[in-house]
Amino acid sequence: MNAQNDLLQLINVSKSYLSDTETVTPLKEINMTVCEGQFIAIVGRSGSGKTTLLNVMAGLDKPTSGEVLLQGEDVALMDENSLTKIRRSKIGFIFQSFGLLPLLSAFENVELPLRISGMDHSQRLEKTNNALDMVGLLARSNHRPYELSGGEQQRVSIARAIVGNPALILADEPTGELDSNNAKSIFGLFKDMVADQGMSIIAATHDSSLLSMADEVKEIKNGSLQAAITDKLRYR
Ligand SMILES: Nc1ncnc2c1ncn2[C@@H]1O[C@H](COP(=O)(O)OP(=O)(O)O)[C@@H](O)[C@H]1O
Ligand SMILES: [Mg+2]
Repeated sequence: MNAQNDLLQLINVSKSYLSDTETVTPLKEINMTVCEGQFIAIVGRSGSGKTTLLNVMAGLDKPTSGEVLLQGEDVALMDENSLTKIRRSKIGFIFQSFGLLPLLSAFENVELPLRISGMDHSQRLEKTNNALDMVGLLARSNHRPYELSGGEQQRVSIARAIVGNPALILADEPTGELDSNNAKSIFGLFKDMVADQGMSIIAATHDSSLLSMADEVKEIKNGSLQAAITDKLRYR
């Protein structure tokens, strides 16, 4: 790790999708640095490339050109095995539609990544309870997803994303299915997590009312990433 404690660095990252009829280039020569303990919001209208950017950061999608350095290692060059390890240990994901398993309780959903990593029972118990406590849902541990509100389900998925103590959380439209109060409280939780735990969070959103809670807001437009003038953004 270098002196500024850069966590993630994108260097001249481009991504094109080719089809029979056209080439779409959602990312054009993107440069970006994310430091430890930073909460960055990425805004942009639908189809502007937010999901593509997060997927490239996680190595879920390969850039057409450029480097994606996570703690100095180029994710874009890794094979699937190394990527799986990195994703399990360093990155937590949060999606718009929560992605919880319906037959598992909140506790079991959060515990699952620890089970997959082979952690022993007493450690799993402690870490899972800590994560549920952090999102304010310890008392609802035994509830299944259908017994929880949308906001609570998203909190469970946040607990699942942070339970392995990743350095980076990537959240793709995490408030897209929530009402405005729940959306605000999720972004407030992100802000607290960054302050208390020192993790970095990158959240894509098209809800401009949430942006005041982020440390930095970047807008993706015509393939480029630029500092956003937040009071001029209106996507809803
Ligand atoms: N797998 C893919 N194949 C072809 N085109 C894609 C693919 N994924 C995304 N795109 C295109 O790339 C552009 C950016 O998409 P996306 O990153 O999903 O935008 P956003 O998340 O901001 O709505 C869109 O024009 C979309 O149609
Ligand atoms: Mg998207």
